[in-house]
Amino acid sequence: MGLDLCWATPVEWVERIAPYEHALLSDHAHCELKAAAMGQVLIAKNPEYPALVQAITPMVIEEMEHFAVVHAELTARGGQLGEQAPSPYADGLHRGSSEGRTSMLLDRLLIAHLIEGRSLERLNLLSHHHPDEQLRVFFHGFCASEAQHRALFLGLAEEFFGPAAGLRLEYLTGLESRVLAGLSFAPRVHSGLG
Ligand SMILES: [Fe+2]
Ligand SMILES: [Fe+2]
Repeated sequence: MGLDLCWATPVEWVERIAPYEHALLSDHAHCELKAAAMGQVLIAKNPEYPALVQAITPMVIEEMEHFAVVHAELTARGGQLGEQAPSPYADGLHRGSSEGRTSMLLDRLLIAHLIEGRSLERLNLLSHHHPDEQLRVFFHGFCASEAQHRALFLGLAEEFFGPAAGLRLEYLTGLESRVLAGLSFAPRVHSGLG
């Protein structure tokens, strides 16, 4: 998949995560919940951008629908939703982005674009390489809409900030890869391989 992330996740990541079916699905469910929450924060903090409010509202609803689907799959497989653990990935992105920041909104949009892109990369890998055929189909079912979300956030950043969006994205794309490369392995959607 031709994503413009600096670092491509190797297939080895799927091999390592596959035995942790319940933990992976629980973390995936929390990712959907957090994506919906992040969309709501963006709306609440930027009411002066009607185009943003209009674009992100249906995304929030869609992420909650995803949450329901993942939670149903988890419980059907005998698992249950675990506690939401802190995310060193998202925390690293938000902390690292304070350097050179000119606009909180621009950074929030670009970080959302990058997180959606990494989620898409991981879901796509799972949809091709997970040993359970039913789960391959399951993960594939999210790819099209996560690709749309990824494009939506970049589109808003470019609409509101023009060429500054591309310049800032270069920096944040590098940061995203550095954060991920520094993470150890865990049964989570955004884990490293260390
Ligand atoms: Fe989603
Ligand atoms: Fe999404």
